[in-house]
Amino acid sequence: MDNFVVSARKYRPTGFDEVVGQEHITTTLKNAIDSNKLAQALLFCGPRGVGKTTCARIVARLINGFEEKTELNSLNIFELDAASNNSVDDIRNLIDQVRYPPQFGKYKVYIIDEVHMLSNAAFNAFLKTLEEPPSYAIFILATTEKHKVIPTILSRCQIFDFNRIQISDIAKHLKKVADRESIPAEEEALHLIAQKADGALRDALSIFDLMVTYSSGKGITFSDVINNLHILDYDYYFKVVDGLLSENHTTPLLLLDEILRHGFDGQNFITGLSEHFRNLLVSQDARTVQLMEVPESVKNKYSKQAKATSPSLLLSWLSIANQCDINYKMSKNQRLSVELALMKMAHVQSVLNLRSTEQGESSKKKVLTVPQP
Ligand SMILES: Nc1ncnc2c1ncn2[C@@H]1O[C@H](COP(=O)(O)OP(=O)(O)O)[C@@H](O)[C@H]1O
Ligand SMILES: [Mg+2]
Repeated sequence: MDNFVVSARKYRPTGFDEVVGQEHITTTLKNAIDSNKLAQALLFCGPRGVGKTTCARIVARLINGFEEKTELNSLNIFELDAASNNSVDDIRNLIDQVRYPPQFGKYKVYIIDEVHMLSNAAFNAFLKTLEEPPSYAIFILATTEKHKVIPTILSRCQIFDFNRIQISDIAKHLKKVADRESIPAEEEALHLIAQKADGALRDALSIFDLMVTYSSGKGITFSDVINNLHILDYDYYFKVVDGLLSENHTTPLLLLDEILRHGFDGQNFITGLSEHFRNLLVSQDARTVQLMEVPESVKNKYSKQAKATSPSLLLSWLSIANQCDINYKMSKNQRLSVELALMKMAHVQSVLNLRSTEQGESSKKKVLTVPQP
């Protein structure tokens, strides 16, 4: 068997231009390095799998002027995972190492991952070194939980906030990897993987690998991803809305039954349906269509369905769905609460119409009762 290297490792960027979706950070870091103004203590904050360690390694490589292909263990990088090495002794070991200048290159770069996990004593032992590091030492601290980092550390670091990565950017990156691996992949399938990854590129690449294995290299299809990741096909939402639009609750109730029988959770369905309503709302105006993170082909579907709805109807549906979502956990009969919401949605249109005719009549009456001069 070939030595299989997971995509997340195989495609770790070695230069800033390959880093996806963190331009505000890569530009600042690049400029700081080019102008020799890099701080000696940096703090990288942000969710997991968005490029913190990757950027730390790139910084280490660039400030030493090493080649892109340089092996990790000769980059003058020392990585400490504070999640599992959080004692005073671990930090003392590190501080001892800091005393010795680098044997080659100009800088030694210390990456302390999950720095918020360090014990209080370890933090304190570390402070002095952080405050007055030798000229050749750069500290890059990384954390997923900035609020847990003590203020004395925060105030000594230059802080970089990493973003979650946008679905469309992740999908584009996956497409590049698929092309490089010569694996055919449907655009909607990659989009779905990107959506599931919830902003983390590492997760997206892991799911991608899983789907490649599943399809045994034949290619990644939308339906494979739907089935494997247990994602509710958005076609269901389009069908539910078609039913609601005809002011008939039968179809939506039957669809709900089918969805629940496939093992999906009622609350998941309601929040997914809310998202669908929101997408229809933004599809009504060409200027807000771009707020929707779906592939082009799906955008057209939304635009078409959006034409059959009105903002007031969508807002009514959204508020019914929202109420159902809020009360869901407390409800004794959760299925019924979702069914009830669907029935309300199906008939809210006629209630709205009724009200507007009533209002129309009462305003007519008012006009009629205005005393004649
Ligand atoms: N912004 C990004 N651009 C390109 N690849 C990324 C990015 N973020 C994560 N990755 C991919 O995910 C893997 C893990 O990223 P890493 O930098 O270790 O994440 P973090 O340290 O933020 O948890 C990388 O090897 C790379 O393949
Ligand atoms: Mg990391």
